[in-house]
Amino acid sequence: MIDTLQTNVIYCGDNLEVLPKYIPDESVDLVYIDPPFNSSRNYEVFWGEAQERRAFEDRFGDAMTYLDWMRPRIREIHRVLKPTGSFYYHCDWHASHYVKVELDRVFGFDSFVNEIVWHYKRWPAGRHQFQRMHDVILFYSKNRGQHFFSPLLESLTEGTLKRWRGMKSRVDYKDGIRQVTKMTQEASKGTLMDDVWDIPVINSQAKERLGYPTQKPLALLERIISASSNEDEVVLDAFCGCGTTLEASAKHKRRWIGIDFSPTACRVMADRLEKRLGLKEGVDFELRDMPKTPEQLRRMPPFEFQNWAVVALGGIPNKVKVGDYGIDGRLYLADMEKEHRGDFMETLDRWYPIQVKQIDRVGRPDIDKFETAMRRDKRLKGYFIAFGFSQDAIREIKRANTADGLDIVPITVDEILTHERVATSIS
Ligand SMILES: C[S@@+](CC[C@H](N)C(=O)[O-])C[C@H]1O[C@@H](n2cnc3c(N)ncnc32)[C@H](O)[C@@H]1O
Repeated sequence: MIDTLQTNVIYCGDNLEVLPKYIPDESVDLVYIDPPFNSSRNYEVFWGEAQERRAFEDRFGDAMTYLDWMRPRIREIHRVLKPTGSFYYHCDWHASHYVKVELDRVFGFDSFVNEIVWHYKRWPAGRHQFQRMHDVILFYSKNRGQHFFSPLLESLTEGTLKRWRGMKSRVDYKDGIRQVTKMTQEASKGTLMDDVWDIPVINSQAKERLGYPTQKPLALLERIISASSNEDEVVLDAFCGCGTTLEASAKHKRRWIGIDFSPTACRVMADRLEKRLGLKEGVDFELRDMPKTPEQLRRMPPFEFQNWAVVALGGIPNKVKVGDYGIDGRLYLADMEKEHRGDFMETLDRWYPIQVKQIDRVGRPDIDKFETAMRRDKRLKGYFIAFGFSQDAIREIKRANTADGLDIVPITVDEILTHERVATSIS
């Protein structure tokens, strides 16, 4: 554990290791997190944790596993928050009810501040229910009543203002003209923002869109940061994804810390800060603990290497490996959501398999086995990641494509490390 906090740093690593190692007690003003399990595509992600097989239907069991995984992380976040600090936990209907109970335990029931509903419009799904069009953000203070909060105003639309004027003039008729005029002027500045936020999801044409499947809108993070921190204070995101929190923090002159397990996510964040805000890596911010060389990756334990490779591609690692025929991960493409018209379970069935081998030359037998796995799972496209491929393997990939219509994409570790192939570029 170090005594002094370093800010404007992206740490590549598991937050459960990074937080105790680098973040001192009571050093952070605001924490926002948006962990996996807040959408179908993240459903199975408990990186490298418990090995047991879990049935999709077993929701309750899943939630408990999820909470067991989250609990020590929530405790760490509680530890690093200043006494005046605030914590925002972004989730949705899958887990919000369980998470709230857990947060009440760690932060205290009285430290709950708000349940914010982020309401948005997206492609409708399922005709037997009301459309699910909101996420939940649970807002807690470290200590009840001691947290910093700067109230935000929501400007009124012309229509609302007119209605208000109408209402006020009726009141005016009863209560006297002076009071009415004052109230209408106050109202025109805006009203105190409530806990239901209408913010559009990032559309496919949006400038801020990076193609990272779970990217949150900048406007959402800007609200949280403006309400719960001051300039120069420290904002932490321990599940940072493509770095929305970091961009919003830097834009509003806050100091920041980002943590993500995925080297790809960390790279996307660094590029984002550079491209969108002109910040220079090594000058304005640091990117730490990235696996940088093929040698480091060769030395990784096999399970971690598989996770690294699957995540680098934007996929979700499988928890259970079933002998040689098991695949190592699944890729759910962002665009699949648009195709999706069915229910949650149906979404889970739309994926491409990913096979990973921590070897220098994938041979033809490895490709044969992957073909068998693809056929078994009824997949026509799949990704194979390794340090290299033999000529035989490449020939077999071509043959399988022409003869059987199987599209196997070979990807080398070098291609991933040089960012030629990351999640954002796969189509
Ligand atoms: C839902 S995404 C966050 C998206 C983010 N809010 C944005 O706008 O880009 C969750 C992220 O948590 C990361 N993650 C999952 N487990 C982690 C862990 N144990 N430590 C650090 N990061 C983790 C994943 O790699 C993923 O990028």
